[in-house]
Amino acid sequence: MTAKRAAIILAAGLGTRMKSDLPKCMHGVGGRPMLEWSIDLARKTGSERVVTVYGKKSSQIGELGEANKTATALQDPPLGTGHAVQAAEAAMAGFKGHAIVLYGDTPLITAETVEKVFAALDEGASVAVLGFTPDDPGAYGRLIVKNGILDRIVEFKDANDEERAVGFVNSGVLAAPAPLLFELLGEVTNENANGEYYLTDVVGLARARGLKAVAVEGDAAEVLGVNSRVDLAEAEASWQRRRRDELMREGVTMTAPETVFFAHDTQIERDVIIEPNVVFGPGVTVESGTIIHAFSHLEGAVVRAGADIGPYARLRPGADIGSKARIGNFVEVKKSTFGEGAKANHLSYIGDATVGAKANIGAGTITCNYDGYGKHQTHIGQGAFIGSNSSLVAPVKIGDGAYTGSGGVVTEDVPDNALALGRASQVNKDGWAARFRAAMEKRKTKS
Ligand code: UD1
Ligand code: MG
Repeated sequence: MTAKRAAIILAAGLGTRMKSDLPKCMHGVGGRPMLEWSIDLARKTGSERVVTVYGKKSSQIGELGEANKTATALQDPPLGTGHAVQAAEAAMAGFKGHAIVLYGDTPLITAETVEKVFAALDEGASVAVLGFTPDDPGAYGRLIVKNGILDRIVEFKDANDEERAVGFVNSGVLAAPAPLLFELLGEVTNENANGEYYLTDVVGLARARGLKAVAVEGDAAEVLGVNSRVDLAEAEASWQRRRRDELMREGVTMTAPETVFFAHDTQIERDVIIEPNVVFGPGVTVESGTIIHAFSHLEGAVVRAGADIGPYARLRPGADIGSKARIGNFVEVKKSTFGEGAKANHLSYIGDATVGAKANIGAGTITCNYDGYGKHQTHIGQGAFIGSNSSLVAPVKIGDGAYTGSGGVVTEDVPDNALALGRASQVNKDGWAARFRAAMEKRKTKS
């Protein structure tokens, strides 16, 4: 049986290089704050207790931790990574299982990697560290491995030339049985080049007790920590690439995947086709057999099986597009349901509406849903036919099978199967144009 698990997520750093009023870990990847990626990772890998460590200047991080039902711990002032983990000690009271230290600014670490770190503990190590081999080991802490055993971690500033030459470095992720971790942290001092309490010192301290420490190798791209907006854009790009690959493997076709952007919670079923330049904001589900044409933007929307969307469609929160329905170019839909096979093919705004099955909405139709104070509902019945360039002034009901004439302003309910004409009737004046031209030509020759 594997031990119980807990996670301590460090997010008390200042994030100065982001040049932002927002704490670093609140910045989003895939439309979700980086901290939430770490919390989610902790939960996915079985942590029953999760503690978010935040700083005095990042109270929003503490609040986000609470909103996600983690315990929180304030580290004030920040005196190093070891000190940050110690700040979580009270929140970890009574927990005897394995604890992992994660970070609020590394959104790309996968569950498989975390599993490998925990597995090292299950297999008998007392401390397990996630290492990687970057192209440039820069100022990362160096992992000193002897005969397969991790002997110690040396911070770059404290390292000699021989140690600096080591290319295998510390990601920062470290796991140990919780009681041992806190016991070892109690022995850590700040006698080093930075004057900080280093989490990394627990490796040497464990070795001094004759305990086993190991380094697990991870992928450099996964452990990328975000420090600047440039790093944030790189993290976003990697995440998008990963998500596109996953979806294609699950049976989604993308003709130009590098131009399609997903949110963390986008759900796309198999046999959906996505053309180039499509953006998914949060909260979108697309069912099987649907095609999303180029340049469409979807957010908070459900697209049901076999529907046809775009090009240039905009689905806003609360759009629910029924199966085999069709939303064409320059059509915006908000808080509205379209029944099976209903159509709005061109240039429309449909907001706060229900559209019955097989209804057809002509080009240029607008639901006038807002009077400056409140939003009002439009109901379009099954099989209704809305003439082009109609203004449907809500609240209003168009009955099943009814027609509305083109160019109409519909302010009153229309009974089932009726025709509504909400426009001035046409007057033809015979010969008027010829008389007009003759008069104008005469005037021109005079002047
Ligand atoms: C740390 C590691 C280093 C590793 C590197 C990987 C130590 C001593 N060194 O170095 O071996 O290669 O990460 O990126 O651990 N934090 C707090 N409170 C603090 C200090 C830090 O919450 O008092 C958080 C920061 O928000 C940050 C993380 O811990 O997310 C790492 O801190 P940072 O100061 O960047 O450590 P490094 O010097 O980069
Ligand atoms: Mg750092």
